[in-house]
Amino acid sequence: MDSSSRLRNILRHIKHWLVVKTAPRKNRIYTQFYRFPHQYRVLAERILPQMIEAHSRPLRILVFGCCSGAEPISLSAVLRRNFPQLEYQIEAYDIVPDVIERAQNPNYSQEEVHQGPFVTEEFVGETFDLVDGRYRVKPEILRPISFRVGDMLDPGFIASLGQADLVFAQNVLFHLPAKNARRAFANLQQLMHSDSALFVNGMDIDMRVQLTKKFELQPEDYLIEEIHNDARQDRGDGWAGAYWGRKPFSRRSREWIREHCTIYRKASV
Ligand SMILES: C[S@@+](CC[C@H](N)C(=O)[O-])C[C@H]1O[C@@H](n2cnc3c(N)ncnc32)[C@H](O)[C@@H]1O
Repeated sequence: MDSSSRLRNILRHIKHWLVVKTAPRKNRIYTQFYRFPHQYRVLAERILPQMIEAHSRPLRILVFGCCSGAEPISLSAVLRRNFPQLEYQIEAYDIVPDVIERAQNPNYSQEEVHQGPFVTEEFVGETFDLVDGRYRVKPEILRPISFRVGDMLDPGFIASLGQADLVFAQNVLFHLPAKNARRAFANLQQLMHSDSALFVNGMDIDMRVQLTKKFELQPEDYLIEEIHNDARQDRGDGWAGAYWGRKPFSRRSREWIREHCTIYRKASV
């Protein structure tokens, strides 16, 4: 890199840091199917084989900020494809009643299903039945999922949930004002037992480093660069001008693993 490109790069990092510190946060209602392909690989290749061996009971999964259903439905399809015998339940929550109502009636248009860059025909065939031009989620994918209104900032609600094996809060924490994002993270980590995994794509980097250390969560670094670059397909264009923009992957920082990592475990494994 020549010196003027290096300077431009430094200025972009400073700009992004300032945007993250000062930009007002705003709730966004937006989702895609099959949005996290490399996270799904980590689940299937690293996390679930250990978990399934350790527990005989059905797996319990909590998804916060589920929007109109694409994330839990994609997750359910991935679990069925990789572990056809696995028993699991997915409890999916959002604060917006309209999106929960939409998720409870899960048939989608062709555009909604194919919106994400990673959606494949294999995924579509495994997940939906095409009925009168609409994509209806197959009953066996839908059956383990419940959709309800729920606020991850509400301590009473969080306490009522007990603990889960997998906890997801993706592309939501960075849309909250910093104080609320911290409260939400503190609530989420309470839902973990000693073998749980937490998935938090879409969280401010400084906060992610600080809070995962504070709560002694261990980064799962398998496929960390690939997962980061999945998110950059979606959000790379937003860097450096938007708080949700994803910066290029780099190993230069002392904390590069925690900065980039989106999956954390309670215990060191
Ligand atoms: C940008 S969407 C992300 C959807 C999905 N997780 C994904 O990654 O595709 C963020 C969702 O989080 C929801 N949300 C915001 N604050 C929340 C809260 N306190 N508790 C639960 N859901 C919340 C929003 O209503 C919105 O539907």
